[in-house]
Amino acid sequence: MNVVAVVNQKGGVAKTTTAANLGACLAERGLRTLLIDLDPQANLTVGLGVPWPELDVALHSVLLDPDEVPLSVILRQIEGLPLYLAPGHLDLAHTEALMMPHADKAYRLRNAIEDLTRHQEYDWVFIDCPPSLGTLTQNAIVAATHLLIPTEPKFYAFAGMDSLNKMIVALTKSLRFRVELLGVLLTMFERGTRLHATIAAEIRERFGDKVFQTVIYKNVRVSESEVEGRPIALFDRRAPGAQNYEALAEEVLLRAAR
Ligand SMILES: Nc1ncnc2c1ncn2[C@@H]1O[C@H](COP(=O)(O)OP(=O)(O)O)[C@@H](O)[C@H]1O
Ligand SMILES: [Mg+2]
Repeated sequence: MNVVAVVNQKGGVAKTTTAANLGACLAERGLRTLLIDLDPQANLTVGLGVPWPELDVALHSVLLDPDEVPLSVILRQIEGLPLYLAPGHLDLAHTEALMMPHADKAYRLRNAIEDLTRHQEYDWVFIDCPPSLGTLTQNAIVAATHLLIPTEPKFYAFAGMDSLNKMIVALTKSLRFRVELLGVLLTMFERGTRLHATIAAEIRERFGDKVFQTVIYKNVRVSESEVEGRPIALFDRRAPGAQNYEALAEEVLLRAAR
């Protein structure tokens, strides 16, 4: 089982879009895939057509009360695929503060996933992180076997990745675990924009073959599909955005097999 934290402390870099679409593409190939919405904004949940305000229990319940609410209780199947969602909720916003006094606060998600997968098997788990490096994101990193870092080809990308790197090093030292970088993904790429090409080249130079060959181009169909509550990969297969994520799924499978 591969557990991938989709992480970047910057918002709007396509973390949620990547989790939803990569997950959908893998599920369409018959791979059992679990999507975990760890962001209080619950964009992944809404984007998959689940209205979180109507939920009695969601991911915050699992993190706060793991003995009462196991992960299995909150799961929703998506579109008849082997695709499952652990929905997020606005209440995740104060979950960090409420977990603070507990010694196991960074391990809650990892324990919940371990519990779940004792009874159910998954090939892939994607954790959609909030745009911060707080306790929720720590939970994701601690639970993950791999990190996937989406980034726009913008100048600030470097500073952001430095603090992310520092946090990963600090966490792996203090919590004694290992997590591997699955890859850095260039998103929101605009064809014919010289600045994008220049910065993308710099990111490739710095991260070498850790940068996915696949690039996700800016495509208005991607945001349109959000309104439909379906990932572009399921909503409009021929859209460039859908084809980019299909190519990414292919590349991710190759990397995981290495
Ligand atoms: N390839 C793309 N082309 C056009 N719009 C995109 C693309 N990827 C994401 N978006 C849009 O950009 C916004 C931010 O994406 P999102 O996945 O929510 O980022 P994050 O989770 O990192 O905050 C969303 O409205 C989304 O629909
Ligand atoms: Mg998001």
